[in-house]
Amino acid sequence: MSHGPAYPVDPLQRPGPSKLANLTIIGDLHRWWRAADAAFLDRSRPDLTMFVGDLGDEDVEMVRAVAALPHQKAVLLGNHDAWQSFGRRTATEKLRESLEILGEDHLAYAVREVPAAGISVVGARPFSWGGPNLRSPELYDEIYGVHTMRQSAAAIADAARNAQHRDLVILAHNGPLGLGDQSHDIFGKDFGKPGGDWGDRDLALAIQRIEGMGLRVRAVVAGHMHHKLAHPRGETRTRFVRRGETLFLNAAYVPRVVRTEVGEVAHFLRTWWRDGTCEQVEEVWVDLHGDVAESYPVEFTELGAPAPIVDETAD
Ligand SMILES: [Fe+2]
Ligand SMILES: [Fe+2]
Repeated sequence: MSHGPAYPVDPLQRPGPSKLANLTIIGDLHRWWRAADAAFLDRSRPDLTMFVGDLGDEDVEMVRAVAALPHQKAVLLGNHDAWQSFGRRTATEKLRESLEILGEDHLAYAVREVPAAGISVVGARPFSWGGPNLRSPELYDEIYGVHTMRQSAAAIADAARNAQHRDLVILAHNGPLGLGDQSHDIFGKDFGKPGGDWGDRDLALAIQRIEGMGLRVRAVVAGHMHHKLAHPRGETRTRFVRRGETLFLNAAYVPRVVRTEVGEVAHFLRTWWRDGTCEQVEEVWVDLHGDVAESYPVEFTELGAPAPIVDETAD
């Protein structure tokens, strides 16, 4: 990043006060999770590991595997994690069990402090499908007492109000409205009739309110909109965007496990923080032994225009 220091070769080895905090992000799993991935977390010991959801399709075993990790973690479940519940417009037994297993590690409308990074992580609305509506207001009402986009935005902003730091990271399944309407844009629609902004309106409204409260959203971490486009087929999505002081990261490299000439590797994002500022974001590929096969800093696309104003009054 242009304002950051040189690439940190091994930040863990830095002495005392200059030590950087490590927030590691894992995109949509869709069941791609290996013992080697857990071994990598054991070795690299992030200050917080964040999962953006779509672990599986209401897959309680995947939820158990994530919940069993002995590390500090925060999860925001995706639309696939509540797939059957949306069909029935009420929480299935499997969704209830998933939420019980995760407990406070499911960060929906809640906050988690990360003092080592100087930030608070705020959880947005879980289970997002993206697009203009909630799909099942009944389901959100049943679990969170929320049944409009506006109420959801208020719930996210309330969580931020409880944050102990002024610098925030927002953890979401899908990103906010306002980052582009082309199918290759970070949260642009690439399916059905491609084109259009598929971002979450409640999240965009929440960010507007949070910034209005004098807090700084330093990063929004999400997934859902997979890196390979359905249309135009084979093209890839912009996944890293900066607008003003805010970084937007789309972690959904799907499937996250790929075969290369050096063997099978799995995708992670690793972010390095000091005193509320993100100093580096890197993509990391982890081999079958849980070691880093390759890592490199990501390049951000700069958005020149400020965030579009979101209508405060629409439901
Ligand atoms: Fe997904
Ligand atoms: Fe999703």
